[in-house]
Amino acid sequence: MNSLWLSYENIKNLDYKTDLKGSINCDVTIIGGGIFGVTCAYYLSKLGYKTVILEKFTIGSRTTGHTTGKITSLHGLFYDYLINSFGKKFAKDYLDVNEKAIENIKNIIDENNINCDFKYQNNYIYAKSEEDLLKIKKEINAVSSLDYNCEFVSKTSLPFDTLGSICFKNQAQFHPLKYLEGLCKSILENLGEIYINTTVTDVKNDGDNYITFTPDAKISSKYVIIASHYPFINFPGFYFTKLYQSTSYLIAIDPKKTLGNGMYISASEPYLSFRTATYDNKELLLIGGMGHKTGYTKSENETYGKLEEIAKKYYPDSDILFRWDTNDCISLDKLPYIGSYSSLMPNVFVGTGFKKWGMTLSNVAANIIVDKIQEKENKYEYLFNSHRLKPLKNIDEFKNMLVDSSNSLLFRKLETSNLDFFEIPQNSGGIIEINNEKVGVYKDNDGNIHAIKPICTHLGCLLSWNDTDKTWDCPCHGSRYDFDGNNLYNPAFKDLEKYDL
Ligand code: FES
Repeated sequence: MNSLWLSYENIKNLDYKTDLKGSINCDVTIIGGGIFGVTCAYYLSKLGYKTVILEKFTIGSRTTGHTTGKITSLHGLFYDYLINSFGKKFAKDYLDVNEKAIENIKNIIDENNINCDFKYQNNYIYAKSEEDLLKIKKEINAVSSLDYNCEFVSKTSLPFDTLGSICFKNQAQFHPLKYLEGLCKSILENLGEIYINTTVTDVKNDGDNYITFTPDAKISSKYVIIASHYPFINFPGFYFTKLYQSTSYLIAIDPKKTLGNGMYISASEPYLSFRTATYDNKELLLIGGMGHKTGYTKSENETYGKLEEIAKKYYPDSDILFRWDTNDCISLDKLPYIGSYSSLMPNVFVGTGFKKWGMTLSNVAANIIVDKIQEKENKYEYLFNSHRLKPLKNIDEFKNMLVDSSNSLLFRKLETSNLDFFEIPQNSGGIIEINNEKVGVYKDNDGNIHAIKPICTHLGCLLSWNDTDKTWDCPCHGSRYDFDGNNLYNPAFKDLEKYDL
């Protein structure tokens, strides 16, 4: 089963190109056709910049196609943290710029008549324990101190009792792929070009311009926006020292009963998220959560199985129609990086680390980058300074990341695998040893063997087998590959070496 959003076929029928060869010029090269890259291209092409999008897969097929699709300024219990860590003005500006993004998205939808199931909804964070209730009350005090009108709510439409919730009104939900389709139509009408199935391998400075390389072409432009899932250029930038990835899970059910309103998320881990969506004239319920650090795989019971158990408990007649996982990039101080990629690459821009709130923050990021390209001041830019060193303040997270990386880069590689080839059941995989070499093996349902070298092509960490999604995942920075070794998620962009057993 795949994502509900990716079942929307119409977006595949636009006038994309696939045959980029030779040398071309444009004003702005955008690497990545998710919501951030496409929103940048939308604004820039309307302003008359010649934009070219280069997407490795298809438009919206990675994080955007796997999101919950919530548009909100309520990003978990975040404002108390922001006030304590960065001060009141900072927290207020963060709130304002995200509220502005909701308005911007609605304006884009109205101006372009995009039929993307946009619906205003209240957004709630609910408490199931006394401890969470205290956190929610603290958050309400924090948000109220920013002159924003949030509410404490004791009753919700959820199918279970809660102890209370914080509620932000006039937030929204939409169908992210239908929204992207509308943006892409506008980009193409404004003479932008969109190349799909096009992998970028490098970006290099060339006088006043930058050259973006694909295996068959060179694109020269004054500006480059790196809007790939995870920044894939290691040096300069060093984003691999400041970002990790989280994998979480979603199911879409036909609950066979009428649902109430609202979008919901729990106050503490493991987070559970709920929202409705329309599909085939039915109202579906999306249940998500059970996240964990990418590469530290969990069993079916702890991921989809748990979500399905919740669905069956509260909606016993329900049918499960879709299930999918999603990867999110998270910075060590929980704030995105938006701005120039590095002081050594001033006209190369980045937007990343949107945590799980990329539908809203991608609009924030696009506005900041578009202003930078126009050399216009943006009063919110300072919130997301892409060169900041503050994450090092978060020393515990930084240490965890170093320990995780060292384990996978050095120690796990030296351990001998005790797994016997014949012990691996069908539709499962693992790492075995052949002549003292580690080999990653997956046996499919028909008994075919898929063998790869289980070493990440990003920086060489040992991969882990993910038996739930049948993928090879990297515990260091979260790259993922399918069972044949084809790269699915950055920062790696090369496939794994394949073996013939
Ligand atoms: Fe960095 Fe694998 S993602 S080494």
